[in-house]
Amino acid sequence: MKRHNVPTIFAIFGVTGDLAQKKIFPALFDLYKKKLLPEKFQIVGIARRDLSLDEFKDFVRDTIDGEDGFIDHLKYSQGQFDDGTTYQKVKDLTEEIDNEWGQCSNKLFYLSVPPSLYELILNNLSSADLSKVCDDMNGWTRVLIEKPFGKDVDTARKLDELLGKLFKEEQIYRIDHYLGKQTLQNILAFRFSNTIFEPLWNRKYIKSIDINLFEEKTIERRGSFYDENGALRDVGQNHILQMLTLVAMEMPKSMTCSVIRNEREKILSKITKRGETIRGQYKGYLNTEGVARDSKTETFFRTVACIKNSRWKGVPFILTSGKGLSESKVEIIINFKDMTTGSFMPKQHKDQECNKITINIQPKEKISILFWVKVPGFLDKVEPRELSFSFHNEKNEHINAYEKVLFDCISGDQTSFISTKEISSSWKYIMSVMDNMQNKDLINYKVGEDPNNIK
Ligand code: BG6
Repeated sequence: MKRHNVPTIFAIFGVTGDLAQKKIFPALFDLYKKKLLPEKFQIVGIARRDLSLDEFKDFVRDTIDGEDGFIDHLKYSQGQFDDGTTYQKVKDLTEEIDNEWGQCSNKLFYLSVPPSLYELILNNLSSADLSKVCDDMNGWTRVLIEKPFGKDVDTARKLDELLGKLFKEEQIYRIDHYLGKQTLQNILAFRFSNTIFEPLWNRKYIKSIDINLFEEKTIERRGSFYDENGALRDVGQNHILQMLTLVAMEMPKSMTCSVIRNEREKILSKITKRGETIRGQYKGYLNTEGVARDSKTETFFRTVACIKNSRWKGVPFILTSGKGLSESKVEIIINFKDMTTGSFMPKQHKDQECNKITINIQPKEKISILFWVKVPGFLDKVEPRELSFSFHNEKNEHINAYEKVLFDCISGDQTSFISTKEISSSWKYIMSVMDNMQNKDLINYKVGEDPNNIK
């Protein structure tokens, strides 16, 4: 990877929040250690909390492992997000930095704030002229925003219209950090760099596909955010659908950003729901701060999606996710049909023992194939075995999802970011699932429940 060396200012709104603490600073620091940030860079943290620069530095120090000069690149600007002077102060600060550097630098505005503040911050950025580049020839201005993008088709469209009014599409980076995960990025490489899988990757040979995103943790302290959204909006509309697009999309004619995004969107626009959706809520959820006492918000769902195209017609994609479950794991399982003639396979072999490919996204980062072999010895008996590849065994450099996403944004590569068309197609499908789910009874499950038992 090559460093992009134009001086850059990272202006992070909501810099004292959870996301900055857990993901953004560790990722920026890793990029810094790998010399993948520009030599000249400044991080301008913006938040409501009244912190001195030293206090802010201490805050950042606690989020990273070591410091190594990184801390010297920090500035802090305190302000309310609904106050125009906050943005004027940021503008003055960025101009001061540019003057010191003697050039118009790149500016990246990261909205690490609750979605309810997007509109306010975007409008204020624009009023303070922060959305404009300082010079047409040098320096770019980009905006990074986090999911959820809206709550439904209409709010997502409104947000996109506003973004489109203030920025050009090539300046807008909509994050779904799952697209930055190495194991997800490998799906396309795995499918399209090997001759042996692609001929079988269709309705003729594949019986069903499971996409699971299970989490042991509960909603923890995110009560008010979560209660307004629920599992389907929190991870279904984005992470799960993005995994589905990578497994299901057609081979892109080239690996360019627009072609890949376009192929992803084609899948999203063809998804329909099949049958009934199951929704659940773990016991104890209602006692969480910020959650309505009579809340019907789901912390678990299982729904079946179908893709209306010739490759996938009739193949169920079973999408399941939940919090407060017995284990944390994210995986995609491709279940093949039983096409064996019966002379070798035991008649009573279990359905789940047909050939399958499992793509473990996390915590294991692995791909394995279940296949049948003869048991060594005199008997004519076959048994299931596993052939597997693990990312952990490789001496490869570890890149976390946020590092990748930030690096790509600095490099101007939007492939791992969601396009406006993808947002709108994914919401259309999710709304149809929601409509169907609304009147369904909530299944109350105990924290630590096995997801297979939630039916
Ligand atoms: C976030 C959701 O987008 O993704 C969280 O808001 C969820 O609720 C998280 O826990 C899962 O991400 P990861 O990378 O930990 O699997």
